[in-house]
Amino acid sequence: MTKGNHDTISILILHGPNLNLLGRREPGIYGAATLEDIDRLLVDRAKQLGVGVIAKQSNHEGEIVTAIHHTLDRQQGIVINAGAYTHTSVAIRDAIAAVAIPTVEVHLSNIYRREEFRHHSWIAPVAIGQISGFGIQSYLLGLEALVAYLRQQS
Ligand code: DQA
Repeated sequence: MTKGNHDTISILILHGPNLNLLGRREPGIYGAATLEDIDRLLVDRAKQLGVGVIAKQSNHEGEIVTAIHHTLDRQQGIVINAGAYTHTSVAIRDAIAAVAIPTVEVHLSNIYRREEFRHHSWIAPVAIGQISGFGIQSYLLGLEALVAYLRQQS
């Protein structure tokens, strides 16, 4: 994974709780790919797109908040799958609003086809967009959309 410099767009990929268990965790819903597989695909796609990505996973809400703060003056965009914190965390929502860095929300599963408690996202109102339901493609589509958005802005 590469760190961005002044010429290169650098993007933080942030994975929330339980996503470290991908591959073993409810594969009927989340698929067989591991988090390492997903990060590898993202690094490859980032190279093709000419941007840098840094990937982090945490099971702790405060660590995710701190990782979002850490993007200030370092990264230009965030792709986040906040896992269950999507549906509960005002703190993560506020962190994204605070840093005001363009953020794309992604989900492996289609959260709107699942239990009602997954239908609400605290993050969606502060994200530039949301991609949900395409498995690992959700991350790749999210990265591509974010890079296109950032290039349009510059
Ligand atoms: C998820 C959907 C969430 O509802 C769930 O809590 C997750 C994963 C997804 O990627 O589909 O942990 O964010």
